Amino acid sequence: MDEIRVTGGRALRGSVVIQGSKNAALPMMAASLLHRGVSVLRGCPRITDVYCMEAILRELGAKTWWNGKNLYLDCTKADRTELSEKNTEKMRSSVIILGAMLGRSRKSSIGYPGGCVIGKRPVDLHLYVLRALGASVSEKGNRIQASCGRLKGTCVRFPKRSVGATEQALLASVLAKGTTVLYNCACEPEIVWLCRYLKGMGAEIEGEGGDCIRIRGVEELRGGDIMVPADRIVAGTYLCAAAATRGRILIENPPEGELDSFLKLYREMGGQYEGRSGKLIADGRGVRFSVPFLETDVYPGFPTDLQSPLLAVLATIPGESHIRENIFEDRFRLAGDLNRMGASVRVCGRDAWIRGTESLRGCRVSARELRGGAALVLAALAARGETVIGGYSYIRRGYEHICSDLSGLGALIKENTGTVLYENIQIQEKNIIN
Ligand code: UD1
Repeated sequence: MDEIRVTGGRALRGSVVIQGSKNAALPMMAASLLHRGVSVLRGCPRITDVYCMEAILRELGAKTWWNGKNLYLDCTKADRTELSEKNTEKMRSSVIILGAMLGRSRKSSIGYPGGCVIGKRPVDLHLYVLRALGASVSEKGNRIQASCGRLKGTCVRFPKRSVGATEQALLASVLAKGTTVLYNCACEPEIVWLCRYLKGMGAEIEGEGGDCIRIRGVEELRGGDIMVPADRIVAGTYLCAAAATRGRILIENPPEGELDSFLKLYREMGGQYEGRSGKLIADGRGVRFSVPFLETDVYPGFPTDLQSPLLAVLATIPGESHIRENIFEDRFRLAGDLNRMGASVRVCGRDAWIRGTESLRGCRVSARELRGGAALVLAALAARGETVIGGYSYIRRGYEHICSDLSGLGALIKENTGTVLYENIQIQEKNIIN
């Protein structure tokens, strides 16, 4: 059944705790491979992408287990060097395991990464930086093969900013011989969190959060132990839910300082917010102004991952808005469904013009990827009548409790997961301590 049913029309009210960040947890999991022992990620989100990375580590020989929300990774024996396509093709960020495998075992053969279809998503920058560090890399059919002696520190300038390729470089260089200097790095908060985790393991890194990162390679790393930060995209999604329904919510654990570009726009749309005692109160009751022009950009610009949730808000605001997507070229796939709900979204390449309406209506729609799927849930919350959103499994890749979180805020929402959608969940459930 794999669907969510929403009866819309209720303004959200109440408070919500934000789950741990998917995009921070995944590279930390890969980094755990760099220590031959146990590492722990506290407050790790129990989402299918995390289960997929867990399955990848197990395939390499790691033991993994959960204690409540804490994920333990014992990589003492994770010395296998081949990964089947089965797990890597499920998730784009599986590719960052390459750098960690090379750092640890000096050899890696993995299936080509898959993931959400939101554009071409090449891996050339990942392979470019591994080659620069001394790996020989080849792409054969559906596989990427790489090998090296000990990787060697070097200076690398990325021709384009990439979150994943910056993470790849960090994972490959922390155990390399000598110093690596990376120019034109991504500055996203997840890079800073990964560095914080690696530094806790004993890595020597400077400059993260800026565009030049310097890494002095060390001989070995100790076990990692970190609290996974709140997910800024999930927080932004719920702020959009409050805006789309003209509600007022309190976020108990907002990602401090990571949502500035979004909050600025929130205010321009007529919303208000206030930080109080480390919490964030967002009042979307006054949201009514369309957005003449907004483009997505690398951090600290407006995040591409919040572009779809924003589209759902704009679909509720009369007047014309204009959004340009600069990061992934195929991120307007929900436009057709928003139009069937009564909005008017016209897409031309990287641009979308949105004419919203206060009377969206429920119908049957389909999630086709993670963030676009979540955005359809938001549109459904604002619509009159019932909306059935198919493709719930896409949404579960990144949202741990979207239905219970929103129902806790007063939404009428039910999930139907039907059969087990991801085989690793079965492995997982057997593996829970409490
Ligand atoms: C990460 C996030 C994703 C977010 C994106 C941008 C994770 C698991 N995912 O994805 O949620 O939307 O950052 O903030 O953290 N590119 C290349 N060659 C490469 C790599 C990337 O051309 O080798 C291009 C991409 O096609 C895209 C741009 O660079 O146009 C940015 O992509 P990148 O920052 O790498 O995104 P991801 O790391 O895949």
